[in-house]
Amino acid sequence: MKNIAARIRWCLAVALAAALAFPIAAEPNDGLQGLRAYAAKKGLDLGVAVNFKQMGNARYTAAVAGEFSYITPENEMKWEYIHSLPEGYDWFFGDSLLAFAQANGMKLRGHALVWHSQVARWVQDAAVDKESLLKIVRDHCSTIVAHYRGKVAKWDVANEVVDDKEGLRQSLFYLKAGTDFIDEAFKAARAADPAALLYINDYSVEDICPKSDRLYALVKGMLARGVPIDGVGLQSHWDLDALPSMASVRANIERFAALGLKVDITELDIRFKGPASDERLAAQAAAYAEVLKVALTAKGVSSVTVWGLDDGHSWIRNAFPGYANATLLDKSYAPKPAYRAWLELLKQ
Ligand code: XIL
Repeated sequence: MKNIAARIRWCLAVALAAALAFPIAAEPNDGLQGLRAYAAKKGLDLGVAVNFKQMGNARYTAAVAGEFSYITPENEMKWEYIHSLPEGYDWFFGDSLLAFAQANGMKLRGHALVWHSQVARWVQDAAVDKESLLKIVRDHCSTIVAHYRGKVAKWDVANEVVDDKEGLRQSLFYLKAGTDFIDEAFKAARAADPAALLYINDYSVEDICPKSDRLYALVKGMLARGVPIDGVGLQSHWDLDALPSMASVRANIERFAALGLKVDITELDIRFKGPASDERLAAQAAAYAEVLKVALTAKGVSSVTVWGLDDGHSWIRNAFPGYANATLLDKSYAPKPAYRAWLELLKQ
């Protein structure tokens, strides 16, 4: 019975995604030229974080499917969405986005299995001790990864576990179980889908700095303990007026690659405050071009994902008051200088 219900939901999700995919056959948005095809020729996947709420919008879906070869669900696979109650999982949103990706020849990056933020409320109450917490983490990771076995190519298994000032983040997970929660999450994910690539993902770890040193030490320890980790995700939420040095970003990528790991840019956006003058947009474009150059030439990078398609729907406006300009497209989905800089670079 349970299986039949799941099948019906899956069919509904596929039908919905097919309906959503339909507008993609429409005329492409003005000025958009299909970055994904040019990136593919260079062996790079381009991804974009998508939000289910926008998926009924034909201009949005046309741009997503026309420009990118990967999607990352912006929220829909996070704990509070996919596993909001202890008894069950809600696959509807994740499955719909996956069906949309499949219908458009795109892949999906699973995001994020274990994160201190957007966790379902019940977890705190149920995790009474270390063993119960580890069981919750294992079950969560293995159930989700098994559900998407063979369909989701990469997973952000552990998200933002490094603290900004020292050591590791004092999250509910860490306080109860130390680094065991990270190790167990990766092991459960690997067992559930041996072919999926498993990443640790974080912010402010893009260049060589104390925080990325802590991530490096953590990951090195995981490898020494035999934890099945394949890659590191550098989120890359950057402020145009406080950019990391690209030489340092490259050196950082290379030190992780030297451990045998893959490195992806997973959540790129480059924000600035105030009006969008030609000068500011040109500086933003130059920064976008610089990081893409690094991604195209540094060893180990196979994808660059932007966090949000357009300035109208990016998380930046809410997360960083005063900032509204951070993505490749403006709020009418028109390409910005940053988009044109990427196109030019990818065409070379
Ligand atoms: C953000 C989403 O974009 C928002 O819609 C949500 O309200 C909060 O989370 N690091 C991550 C992402 O790993 O999951 C976050 O996404 C942005 C920071």
